[in-house]
Amino acid sequence: MNQPALEAIGLTKSFGGVRAVADLSFIVPAGIVALIGPNGAGKTTVFNLVTNLFPPDGGDVRFYGTSLRGRTPNAIAGLGLLRTFQTARVFPGMTALENVMAGAHRHVRVAAVAQMLWLPAALREEAALRREAATMLDLVGLARFRDTPASNLPMGAQKLVEVCRALMARPRLLLLDEPAAGLNDAETAETATLLRAAADSGVTILVVEHNMSLVMDIADHVIVLDLGRLLAQGTPEDVRRDPRVIEAYLGTEA
Ligand SMILES: Nc1ncnc2c1ncn2[C@@H]1O[C@H](COP(=O)(O)OP(=O)(O)OP(=O)(O)O)[C@@H](O)[C@H]1O
Ligand SMILES: [Mg+2]
Repeated sequence: MNQPALEAIGLTKSFGGVRAVADLSFIVPAGIVALIGPNGAGKTTVFNLVTNLFPPDGGDVRFYGTSLRGRTPNAIAGLGLLRTFQTARVFPGMTALENVMAGAHRHVRVAAVAQMLWLPAALREEAALRREAATMLDLVGLARFRDTPASNLPMGAQKLVEVCRALMARPRLLLLDEPAAGLNDAETAETATLLRAAADSGVTILVVEHNMSLVMDIADHVIVLDLGRLLAQGTPEDVRRDPRVIEAYLGTEA
C-alpha cells in the first residue's frame, strides 16, 4: 500500500474579500509532484496553509496520515515536512558550504555539548556533514562558490543553496516554491538533476514552478490550481493536453 505523502481536504482561506483557496482537496503521491497555475491561483497560500504559517478557515491537511491541524510550523518541520520560500532565504553571514551544512542540524545525533567539547564523535560527524554538503554543491555546479559568503552569491545560486540546505535535513516531503525562478538554463538543469536525485533517494517533492519545460521534464504528477480551486490533475501529458488548463493559461496571458 502506497500511502500518499500529503492529503489536503477541503482547504479554504480568504484574505478580506479574496478567496485565495476555496474548498481545495488534493493528494500528493510519492515522487515529484508539480503544483502549477496562473499568478494568484493560490499556490503559495497552499504552502502556507500546509505548513500552518497561518491557519485555514476550514479543512485539514494530513501528512502520511497524521493531521497537521493546530501544529506549529516548527513542529511540522520536525515531522519531516520542510519548505523553501519564493524568495531565497540564506544565512548571510555564512558561506555556501556552511549554509548547506546548517540544514543537517535536525539530523545530528551527537549532543550539542559534545560538539562544544570537540569530542571525536562530533568531529567525525562534522567531517561527514562537510563531505555530504560539498558533494551536494558539486552536484548542482556550485563547487566554486563553496567558501563564498552566501549573501554574495548570485540570486540563482542562493536559491540552489537553499534547496541543498533543505535536502541536507533529509525531509520526507519537501515543498519548493519556484526553485527555478531567476535561474539561467544551466542552473535550471542542475536543479532538475538535484530534484531527481533527491526523489530517487526517497524524498517526495511538491514543487510550485512556472517553468513548464522543467515541470514536464521532472514531474511524475501535476496538480493545477486556478482561482484557488483544483482545475485538473494527472500526468504531465494529461495536464498539458487538458483544454481547461490551456484556457486558464491562455486566458491569463491575454
Ligand atoms: N497574506 C496575504 N494577505 C492578503 N492577500 C493575500 C495574502 N497571500 C495571498 N493573498 C492573495 O491570495 C491570492 C493567492 O495568492 P498566492 O500568493 O497564493 O498565489 P500564487 O499562486 O502563489 O501566485 P504567484 O504565481 O504569483 O506566486 C492572491 O489574490 C493574493 O493577492
Ligand atoms: Mg506564489
